[in-house]
Amino acid sequence: MLQCFIWTVFVLFFSFSSAQQGFGVINNDWHVSLANQSLTQALKSFVSVLTRNRTILIVGGQNDKNVYQDGMLSMNLPTDVSNITRQAHFISMSTSAIIPFGSNPHGYTYGIDPWANEEWLYIVSPKSSYNATQQRLWQYSITNNVWSSRTLSKPRRNTCVVYVAFSQQQQYLYIIGGAINDNNANDEWTISNEMERYDLKKQKSERMSAMNVARSGHSCVYSTKQKAIYVLSGLDKSQNLTATMERYDIEGDEWSTVWNTTAQAPLAMYNPRALHASVLLESNDTADQIDIVSVGGRGPHDEPLSAVEILSIVAVHNQSYVRSHASSLQFPRSSLAVVSQANYAIFALGGSNTSSEY
Ligand SMILES: *[C@@H]1O[C@H](CO)[C@@H](O)[C@H](O)[C@H]1NC(C)=O
Ligand SMILES: *[C@@H]1O[C@H](CO)[C@@H](O)[C@H](O)[C@H]1NC(C)=O
Ligand SMILES: *[C@@H]1O[C@H](CO)[C@@H](O)[C@H](O)[C@H]1NC(C)=O
Ligand SMILES: *[C@@H]1O[C@H](CO)[C@@H](O)[C@H](O)[C@H]1NC(C)=O
Ligand SMILES: *[C@@H]1O[C@H](CO)[C@@H](O)[C@H](O)[C@H]1NC(C)=O
Ligand SMILES: *[C@@H]1O[C@H](CO)[C@@H](O)[C@H](O)[C@H]1NC(C)=O
Ligand SMILES: *[C@@H]1O[C@H](CO)[C@@H](O)[C@H](O)[C@H]1NC(C)=O
Ligand SMILES: *[C@@H]1O[C@H](CO)[C@@H](O)[C@H](O)[C@H]1NC(C)=O
Ligand SMILES: *[C@@H]1O[C@H](CO)[C@@H](O)[C@H](O)[C@H]1NC(C)=O
Repeated sequence: MLQCFIWTVFVLFFSFSSAQQGFGVINNDWHVSLANQSLTQALKSFVSVLTRNRTILIVGGQNDKNVYQDGMLSMNLPTDVSNITRQAHFISMSTSAIIPFGSNPHGYTYGIDPWANEEWLYIVSPKSSYNATQQRLWQYSITNNVWSSRTLSKPRRNTCVVYVAFSQQQQYLYIIGGAINDNNANDEWTISNEMERYDLKKQKSERMSAMNVARSGHSCVYSTKQKAIYVLSGLDKSQNLTATMERYDIEGDEWSTVWNTTAQAPLAMYNPRALHASVLLESNDTADQIDIVSVGGRGPHDEPLSAVEILSIVAVHNQSYVRSHASSLQFPRSSLAVVSQANYAIFALGGSNTSSEY
């Protein structure tokens, strides 16, 4: 077993403001915020969401002894972001309904769109271990503090999940790629390009179009404005990092590679990575622009990264993309979690700097 140091303390703060043309970075700096605040324990590979109630929920993960966590933490953010160091605290939430989360729930996961749904947090993970024979959907009622779970289809590791809602009756989880165990008898996992859509109302799964590239440990975000999912980087079928990115058009059920029209080639990320985290910043204005910020992860030599980069989509129809570097994290981390607060700040939580995570 390789050494496993996990960052305990740092919650970082990255500040944005929304300008008329989308997002201008006014304070492109990571700060160790929440002076001396830490997660109540070292944690990586967990799920985190920021609810509309300004609460960061942190669920599952692994501690620095690689023990899977089944509890939940929460932290309340103050209203004034500029004053955040003084007011935020982590508190242990009720673990009255303890859930045995699967190994490495990072990337297995996703939760609610906190700005659209006050009620539910969704976690997708294998039943209990790498040898799981089932994938489960864990559902947590934020208002009632109650967990429940249902069986999904085949187990996947390091998959990526987004929540998409068109109305109360049309709520879906898109479960994208990851390493799939097709043969439950053997502990064999194949990196896949498959995507399934789980209908939360009808409670059934449906196979959708597959990505162009198989990916595991990739990141994904959903843009409400574009009705599109973007996936970024990850390990490909031969377990090499791919620098490519893809866009999925929800209405057309169609994937396309994010393309550099000048070079007539896929647009590459500056830093191909896996086990990173990405967050979408969407402005409120009528402009098409969205920004996808990718944070940390592991590079081609399995090294933990501190690099942060932004993919800006400035025009969807003519596929106009702009890449940029952002300030690096103060410490490299992979299997971290990020949440963004109302497009103004991004928090990077937990993660690990070990020499191997796969
Ligand atoms: C943070 O911790 C350091 C040393 O551990 C201490 O000197 C400092 O006063 C603490 N700051 C706050 C705001 O508690
Ligand atoms: C920051 O928080 C403190 C304590 O709650 C408060 O007294 C102060 O006015 C706040 N500062 C700003 C700039 O909001
Ligand atoms: C998973 O299966 C492998 C091979 O059967 C075994 O060596 C390993 O201990 C199992 N792991 C767990 C967590 O059960
Ligand atoms: C929102 O936060 C308030 C104050 O912390 C709390 O009383 C309330 O229960 C929270 N609501 C939800 C839905 O969590
Ligand atoms: C994957 O990486 C290995 C080692 O760097 C290399 O030999 C191999 O050609 C790569 N495979 C593909 C499909 O690029
Ligand atoms: C597209 O490729 C061209 C030529 O290689 C390069 O100069 C340009 O920076 C690329 N565009 C982006 C958005 O990276
Ligand atoms: C979005 O627009 C509404 C209405 O113009 C405004 O009240 C709100 O503050 C805006 N939100 C953001 C994040 O800019
Ligand atoms: C693509 O859209 C952008 C933003 O609207 C515009 O600046 C650019 O000129 C367009 N490019 C082409 C080739 O139409
Ligand atoms: C990982 O973090 C620990 C502290 O948590 C530090 O002592 C160690 O040097 C770091 N290792 C690397 C490779 O950055």
